[in-house]
Amino acid sequence: MLKALVIFFGLLALCNAASLGTRDTSNATVVCQSEDELWGGEDIRKFYFCLDGAVITDECDPGYYFVNNATICGCLPSSLMKPSCVNLDTKVPDCSASSKMQPQACDDVASFYLCTSEGAKELPCPDGKAFVDQDGYLGCFDWTEWRSLRNCVDG
Ligand SMILES: *[C@@H]1O[C@H](CO)[C@@H](O)[C@H](O)[C@H]1NC(C)=O
Ligand SMILES: *[C@@H]1O[C@H](CO)[C@@H](O)[C@H](O)[C@H]1NC(C)=O
Repeated sequence: MLKALVIFFGLLALCNAASLGTRDTSNATVVCQSEDELWGGEDIRKFYFCLDGAVITDECDPGYYFVNNATICGCLPSSLMKPSCVNLDTKVPDCSASSKMQPQACDDVASFYLCTSEGAKELPCPDGKAFVDQDGYLGCFDWTEWRSLRNCVDG
């Protein structure tokens, strides 16, 4: 099957098909997985490539997420992503409502809204974590946990 390739920075990017079907990405950020292709990791915003034997990390633009599956490879806008992997059309919470004490999802999956004395604020999760509000889980979780809690595991 032919892969649809997304253009990166004017270059035709190739993705590392060897990572297909495996979710063991524990070494994705430190070990070169390919000399000339991109690969993804647990953080859905990031992708990696090898330069002179070193792994270089890059990040999709805000609102774009990295996908590498049988049909596509590159940064896709959230509207084209698997819905379980993105937050679409979230709203700034109404801080006068009863849910005001609870952190709430915002469009950026690695941030959340919190009502403060100065109104709703968008706050980032700590490094390496993303926000979950699902099946009783609420808060910032490691990307690996985030993926499995959100069922964002393939593509
Ligand atoms: C990760 O990389 C280390 C060092 O290269 C290697 O020993 C280890 O087996 C790798 N782990 C996986 C899961 O590939
Ligand atoms: C690849 O990912 C895109 C975006 O999530 C999805 O639309 C497409 O169906 C996926 N293809 C396969 C073969 O899973």
